[in-house]
Amino acid sequence: MTEPRRLLVTGGTGFIGKVLCRSLLQCGYRVTVLTRNAAAASQALPLPGIDFVESLDVLGANGLWFGVVNLAGQPLDSGRWNSDRKVEFRDSRINLTNALVSWMGELDQSPEVFVSASATGWYGHWHDELLDEDSRCNTGYAQRLCADWEQAARDGLPQGCRGCQLRIGIVLGPSGGPLSAMLTPARLGLGGAMGTGLQWWSWIQVEDLVRLICFLLEEATIEGAVNGTAPNPVRQRDFAKILGRVLGRPALLPLPGFVASLVLGEFADEILLKGQRVVPARALAAGFIFDYPELGDALKATIDVPR
Ligand SMILES: NC(=O)c1ccc[n+]([C@@H]2O[C@H](COP(=O)([O-])OP(=O)(O)OC[C@H]3O[C@@H](n4cnc5c(N)ncnc54)[C@H](OP(=O)(O)O)[C@@H]3O)[C@@H](O)[C@H]2O)c1
Repeated sequence: MTEPRRLLVTGGTGFIGKVLCRSLLQCGYRVTVLTRNAAAASQALPLPGIDFVESLDVLGANGLWFGVVNLAGQPLDSGRWNSDRKVEFRDSRINLTNALVSWMGELDQSPEVFVSASATGWYGHWHDELLDEDSRCNTGYAQRLCADWEQAARDGLPQGCRGCQLRIGIVLGPSGGPLSAMLTPARLGLGGAMGTGLQWWSWIQVEDLVRLICFLLEEATIEGAVNGTAPNPVRQRDFAKILGRVLGRPALLPLPGFVASLVLGEFADEILLKGQRVVPARALAAGFIFDYPELGDALKATIDVPR
């Protein structure tokens, strides 16, 4: 019998990571999660067959690793973006990614593949322009954070290790993630346009994202930046309307842009009120098939709607 292939996962205890780890085990990988707190992680992820480690040092240099999936990062919606928090955003992503890349370089045999998270924020703010992986970027705080994160994931990768930087959009899942914050107002009929509502939101259902990560692990022809978004981004006001329709509630109350900025600060200015119209050109060209290409179907599959 052949040994299961080993994967190291960071951020495995998070919203996306938990769904991913379950799926990786089902696919027959052996999973080790790098976490800040192994005891808490084993409770958050009570799955037989996962190992938890708190430091790369304990892994040594002579293990045989098939790949690494890097999802860790201080959540961007964890409070106002003051200077301390901005340091945490960077350290938790860029320092950790640098550490992973140098650990991979020290291994006797380098892993075959490194899938590292980034975000559609890499593109910066655009109006209606359709953006694929060959598009240019604009400037902004989130853009610089993503650009530096991707550079850390690309530069210095050991020879023979295929690197994919996954530019993730707004992830829709049943427990956690951005949708959780939207559900209560939407259920009360209060979800409406934010600011002008014309900004594009590029989204992806969490099961599709996890299937895409598994696809990137196995698909040796894909390398470099890959958009982790569904093929049909929508304007925020249409997102609110479709969510309202799925919940059987009107999307009535607009949130003026200045109020969002006042309450949420730069998070609103950078993420909620401006967006990008991103399409997953590389994934589609490589033959990846989305189970949820349309927002209505993705939301219906995600939200527990009483019938
Ligand atoms: N969810 C989305 O819609 C979305 C969209 C675009 C990009 N992304 C990116 O995709 C990645 C995964 O997203 P997610 O929603 O699953 O994130 P999440 O639920 O916030 O989980 C991220 C994980 O990162 C680790 N982490 C958190 N703060 C940290 C810190 N200060 N230092 C080191 N590690 C820290 C935690 O693992 P431990 O506690 O086990 O250490 C946590 O479980 C993130 O990097 C995020 O920026 C997510």
